[in-house]
Amino acid sequence: MTYFTYKNQQLHAEDFALQQIAAEFGTPCYVYSKTAIEQNWQEYVQALNQYPVAHKLFYAVKANSNLAILQVLASLGAGFDAVSGGEIQRILAAGVSPEKIVFSGVGKSVAEISLAIDLGIYSINVESAAELIRINTIAQQKNQRVNIAIRVNPDVSANSHPYISTGSKQNKFGIAYSEAIDICQQAVSLPNLNLKGITCHIGSQIVTMQPFMQALEQLSNLVDKLTTLGIKLEYLDIGGGLGVRYKDENPPSPQEYIQTILDKIANKDIEIHFEPGRSIVANAGILLTKVEYIKTSENSKFCIVDAAMNDLIRPALYQSYHEIVAVSNQPTVTTDQYAIVGPVCESGDFFAQARELAVQADDLLAIKSAGAYGFSMSSNYNTRPRCAEVLVDKDKAYLIRERETVEQLLQNEKLLNAARFIPSRL
Ligand code: LLP
Repeated sequence: MTYFTYKNQQLHAEDFALQQIAAEFGTPCYVYSKTAIEQNWQEYVQALNQYPVAHKLFYAVKANSNLAILQVLASLGAGFDAVSGGEIQRILAAGVSPEKIVFSGVGKSVAEISLAIDLGIYSINVESAAELIRINTIAQQKNQRVNIAIRVNPDVSANSHPYISTGSKQNKFGIAYSEAIDICQQAVSLPNLNLKGITCHIGSQIVTMQPFMQALEQLSNLVDKLTTLGIKLEYLDIGGGLGVRYKDENPPSPQEYIQTILDKIANKDIEIHFEPGRSIVANAGILLTKVEYIKTSENSKFCIVDAAMNDLIRPALYQSYHEIVAVSNQPTVTTDQYAIVGPVCESGDFFAQARELAVQADDLLAIKSAGAYGFSMSSNYNTRPRCAEVLVDKDKAYLIRERETVEQLLQNEKLLNAARFIPSRL
């Protein structure tokens, strides 16, 4: 179900014309549909509620971390998966209580672990033997007992882009499957840790069930082995990773995904956790951009827009496909094939290489399926202020992030005569 549809030849987000959003808030600008986000979340909840199995859902904040979006999900009862102290603070700023937070990531600093312990978050997902010791030591200093889960690397191939595959041996993530038992035994022997579960996350934009089922099998065998060793876990966390349709992929729906997993695991006496990100927000967002110029060179036609790789880096980084459509349907404009490019000074700054579009200068375009890993991966490259974000709820459009200003970009920088300096001790 899409919430971006044409009414009177004008593309709308829910009941709001994108043209009006551009006029009011400017471009480039991310536009999200609140109803789409809610529906995507509820599809998981409803599928899970069909089973008498204890479960928890943690939204992977990195996919889209705008405070208002976290707030929408929190109001639906979501838990949250954070990967930095910054994300933890964001979740708190959205009004969420710490016991709704899990903390993942391969490089947690002392300060981040300390913050997580002080707050009393739900669980820290441990990614190495060294980290296990570090968490125990910090907890000991604070005289606290910390809930942890061990992130296991189940060594399965996610069959997605290599940059977003995380569950095979050569990836930096998790503890090797062959070492997992030893680490779990060590964890239960450490006085300031409380081993609650095992987790994995094998990758992102996974479009078939097979890799998930392989990982589930591995984790569930591990749960059984641990039980025979007298270590009874409370939960098993299968991570995120469910893909969405960008072009012609046919991923399982959240409903099919949950059903297939729970059919396999429902008879085990263990709680199941999920950490979806992309499948909640990707298709709930577009990047709205204006055509600056049409440029014709000897071999190509370029459609130069005001958004760039700093706003949405996925095409440059992963050669990913995003559908691009004109916001106004104009039957009088002729269709041509264009490279859709931004103003940044790199040839990698493109959104599409050869697209059929009926477009002319000053038109608006919508770059679709941009709600996940869009704004959250944006940068200030070329000193481009990060763009605005707007959330549409039926016939209302809320500015949930103001466009950055150049003054904000410069505020932490110092001319030499104003910079603090230290002399070398050598
Ligand atoms: N849990 C953990 C521990 C993760 O590392 C991730 C994503 C998720 C959950 C959520 O996965 P999802 O359901 O969104 O697939 N920037 C890339 C995607 C990177 C994903 C990183 N980890 C992209 O734009 O495709």
